[in-house]
Amino acid sequence: MHLIDYSQIVKGYKLMMEKFPLTRLRRNRRYQWQRDLVAEIELTPKDLVLPIFVHDEGNENLKSPSMPGVDIISLKNLPKIINKASSLGVTSVNIFPRIDGKLKTEDGAEGYKKNNLICRAIKTAKDCADNIGIIADVALDPYTSHGHDGLFENNNVDNDKTLELLAKQALLFAEAGVDIIAPSDMMDGRIKKLRNSLDAENYTDIGIISYSAKYASSLYGPFRDTVGSTSSLGKLNKKTYQCDFRNSKEAIREAAHDIKEGADMLMVKPAMFYLDIIKNITDKYNIPTLAYQVSGEYSMIKAAAQNGWLNEFEAFYESLIAIKRAGATGIMTYYAIDMAQKL
Ligand code: PBG
Repeated sequence: MHLIDYSQIVKGYKLMMEKFPLTRLRRNRRYQWQRDLVAEIELTPKDLVLPIFVHDEGNENLKSPSMPGVDIISLKNLPKIINKASSLGVTSVNIFPRIDGKLKTEDGAEGYKKNNLICRAIKTAKDCADNIGIIADVALDPYTSHGHDGLFENNNVDNDKTLELLAKQALLFAEAGVDIIAPSDMMDGRIKKLRNSLDAENYTDIGIISYSAKYASSLYGPFRDTVGSTSSLGKLNKKTYQCDFRNSKEAIREAAHDIKEGADMLMVKPAMFYLDIIKNITDKYNIPTLAYQVSGEYSMIKAAAQNGWLNEFEAFYESLIAIKRAGATGIMTYYAIDMAQKL
C-alpha cells in the first residue's frame, strides 16, 4: 500500500488555483520590511568559518599572490586575526600552513613531525581563542615535494599507506589542542581510520568534518599558489582521488561512507558550482553539512569587483545566501571577516 501525503496534494492544488489578478506576487515585495518578513534565508556571522594561512618565516604578514586581500599570517600575528574573527561572531577558523619550501619531501615527513608549524599554530590559536573553534586540515599536500595529498609511489597515490600517515598527523593536531579535524585528502576509509586512531588515544571529543564531496576542481589554483604547492604539483593532478565533476551520485556514495565511518559533519567543496550537490546531500541525510567557498570562487568575485564589474559585497552576499539556500549549515569563506563586519 502506498501512503499518500494529502497535505502535499492540497498544497499543489492551491498553487494551481493562484491566479492573476487576484494574486499579485509583487505585493509581498513592496517594502524592505515586507521582503524581510517573508525571507526564507538569513545569513549571520555564526554561519561562517574563516580559513587562515599561516607562516613562520619572519614576523610580517605576506600577501597571497592570487587572492587579493588575503594575507599569509605570521605565527606572531595569528592571535590578532583570531580575536578579530571571534569578536565579530565568526564561529571558527580553519588553519593552513605555508611551510618553507626546503622542508618539502617525497614522503611529506614534516606533516607528521612533532611541533611543526601547524601544531604551533594550533597551540597559539587555542591559547588565545575565546569562544571560537579551531579546525585544521588533514592532508599531506603542504609538505610533499610532488604536491599530492598522500604518499606518491610508482606513479600512484598509495591509499592505505597514506592512511597511516594521516592518522599520525591527526594525533599531533589533537595533542596540540585542535577542536575539529577536517580531512581533505579524499583517501578511501580515512574517516574510520582517523576516528579509531583518535578514540584509541582517548580523543573521543575531537570532531571530524569530512570533506566528503571534494571535487577535482580548477578552482583550487589560488590556494595552491598561496601555500606554495602549485609548482610542486606541476602537470600532475588529483583526479585519481578527488571526485569527478561530471558526477553527482558519486557524492552521495562518498557521503554515505563517511557517515557510516563516523563523520560528525560533511562538507561539499567547491560551493558555487556545486549547489546541486549540497542540495542532494542535505535533502538525503540528516547530518550537518558545510560548504567551502574555495580560493578560486573568492578570487573570481574579488577580481571582477576590482575591475568595477561587480559590487563586491553584493556579489559575496548573494553567493553565500545561495550556498545556504542550497542547504549548507555553515560556510568556509575567505570573505568571512569582511562579511561579518557588514552584517
Ligand atoms: C588540500 C586542500 C586544498 C584546498 C583545501 N585543502 C587544495 C587541493 O586539494 O589541492 C583548497 C581550498 C581552496 O582552494 O580554497 N588538500
